[in-house]
Amino acid sequence: MPPRVLSGMRPSGKLHLGHYHGVLENWLKLQKQYECFFFAADWHALTTEYADPKEIRENTWEMVVDWLAVGIDPEVSTVFVQSSIKEHAELFVLLSMITPLGWLERNPTYKEQLKEITGKDLHTFGFLGYPVLQTADIIIYKAQKVPVGIDQVPHVELSREITRRFNYFYGELFPEPETLLTDAPKVLGTDGRKMSKAYNNAVYLSDPPDVVKKKILTMMTDPARKRRQDPGNPDICPLFLTFHKFYSDEKTIAWVRKGCTTAGIGCIECKQSVIPKVLERLKPIQEKREELSKDRERIWSVLKEGSRRAGAVAEKTILDVRKAMALE
Ligand code: TRP
Ligand code: SF4
Repeated sequence: MPPRVLSGMRPSGKLHLGHYHGVLENWLKLQKQYECFFFAADWHALTTEYADPKEIRENTWEMVVDWLAVGIDPEVSTVFVQSSIKEHAELFVLLSMITPLGWLERNPTYKEQLKEITGKDLHTFGFLGYPVLQTADIIIYKAQKVPVGIDQVPHVELSREITRRFNYFYGELFPEPETLLTDAPKVLGTDGRKMSKAYNNAVYLSDPPDVVKKKILTMMTDPARKRRQDPGNPDICPLFLTFHKFYSDEKTIAWVRKGCTTAGIGCIECKQSVIPKVLERLKPIQEKREELSKDRERIWSVLKEGSRRAGAVAEKTILDVRKAMALE
């Protein structure tokens, strides 16, 4: 058997190019090599959205449509929703018994988010326990590899520690999960900041061609190029770093570099050269999305089948856990 890979994403709705280049392209590669489990972490979404949860389900649907549209194949990978597998919750309870509070309180991601996310009260038991639930997600499938971005590394590190502690108390039941660090390329939004739904600067996989065009044409460039005759620097230009980098061939890149630094081309011309490439890449994704969206129930039945497969594994693991902890 190839090693088992597991990863989750909190349902945030329609996905953008940041998700695509940062996460999904990597999942597509992994899907070819490993046995993969991909799930929508709707309980994790509740840790921050508990006061207004009504969008989580719709967001789950939109996110999973995008997964399938880019080529995550539910016949090959197991695709499911976290809350449909109750064994994650049971294991979460059991792991919470052995997880020292200090480990959670010291978690840098936790401390940072408490500071950064304003307008929500995150001083809850659930939010503190976020990495414990994440550990349950991983080890309930005995996953060996966990592909995540750099921001999630402390969480997986905690998962390893909790797993080690479990194995120490109750016997070597679980492999220690390893991080598969995705060197997530920085994808910048139209305003030059990191592409994010929250910043309202994202280009979505589902944006129609005219919207994509407009977003690119109004995207920030090197601010030094105030006038057409001012030379610029592609290496600090958000448009270049995000679009030409992912979509242009070497010849075009050389043309941009020369034209930009000598003011030989204008930004509009530069942008126009990459637009068709972006549209070309999005076209098959959008066609697939369109087809999948025709029958809304289809996505839910794909997820049901995924739950059936995931559930079979989780059930087996939880039996072993109960035995190991003298509950059965
Ligand atoms: N915390 C992850 C994120 O926000 C999502 C997640 C939940 C996850 N459970 C997981 C990722 C288990 C990997 C493994 O991106
Ligand atoms: Fe950016 Fe292209 Fe304008 Fe240079 S010419 S600043 S690379 S958009």
